[in-house]
Amino acid sequence: MSLLPPILFVLIVEMAAACHLHPGFYSQTCPKAEAIVRNVMKKAMIREPRSVASVMRFQFHDCFVNGCDASLLLDDTPSMIGEKLALSNINSLRSFEVVDEVKEALEKACPGVVSCADIIIMAARDAVALTGGPDWVVRLGRKDSLTASQEESNNIMPSPRANASSLIDLFSKYNLSVKDLVALSGSHSIGEARCFSIMFRLYNQSGSGKPDPAIEPGFRAKLDKLCPRGGDENVTGDLDATSRLFDNQYFKDLVAGRGFLNSDETLFTFPQTREYVKLFSNDENEFFKAFVEGMLKMGELQSGRPGEIRTNCRKVNGQAVDV
Ligand code: HEM
Repeated sequence: MSLLPPILFVLIVEMAAACHLHPGFYSQTCPKAEAIVRNVMKKAMIREPRSVASVMRFQFHDCFVNGCDASLLLDDTPSMIGEKLALSNINSLRSFEVVDEVKEALEKACPGVVSCADIIIMAARDAVALTGGPDWVVRLGRKDSLTASQEESNNIMPSPRANASSLIDLFSKYNLSVKDLVALSGSHSIGEARCFSIMFRLYNQSGSGKPDPAIEPGFRAKLDKLCPRGGDENVTGDLDATSRLFDNQYFKDLVAGRGFLNSDETLFTFPQTREYVKLFSNDENEFFKAFVEGMLKMGELQSGRPGEIRTNCRKVNGQAVDV
């Protein structure tokens, strides 16, 4: 939640150009791969509708930290503190078991072929398509990392308190434009967030001892009830008014002062991002188009470091089980 070392950004942006991802990467080696992923995601959604949103979030938290390499999925070991317990992830990222289930099905069909990093990319796309959003062709062929870094995740991932100008800066370091930032934030069209992420906003915005004035009063009363001072901060609320549907309601909510997170509402408060919020709130097709572009760009981020195809997404190959 502080600044990312500039060297890391240079690395990510430079290496992005060197990657060899392409559509249909598994068409010879595992022709059913994409159908298998979608099928498991469909079942997960029926079992627990929120789970597909939780899995979709993995793409952001994986790709921003050393590229899309499934580093996020590695469990801690005695010699490596991974990313699962990083500030933005602890008690927050969830539904790792859905990825395990996808991986198991893929290992059965074609052992050792499909990377966990590609699973995240396919599953994120499927989450959007299954909840009523756009569907698109993904480029595949990523490798899984041999390590993970809690520290780098802590340094990079933005806080829910972030304002639009810090988000613009962060995204620009990944070659993601202001339009990409606003469109990708539209991922909050599905899913939920904890009271923990908005307590400051409700009761002490910027140390003022007062709520964020950008919150529409009726909505604030609702949030105050959901998240009372001293209450259970693990209680969750919907990120928009239609949290199981991928649509442009999120942007309509922002225009109405009904954004859940500070990092959401700030996109309407700030002049540089406001026009895109307005555009997407009025034109769902424009949102869908920009969202797909943003997801494809984010999916290209690569570290260029050596990798492998893990057989278990939680562990590097050759690592003893239960260490
Ligand atoms: C722009 C900067 C962003 C910030 C500051 C941010 C922050 C957050 C926070 C604080 C939560 C709730 C965590 C909790 O309370 O436990 C959340 C949830 C979520 N985020 Fe973001 N996010 C951002 C961008 C993105 C992007 C780019 C994506 C995906 C493309 C994404 C996908 C999601 C999803 C789907 C959820 C709901 C997950 C669930 O229901 O389990 N977010 N985000």
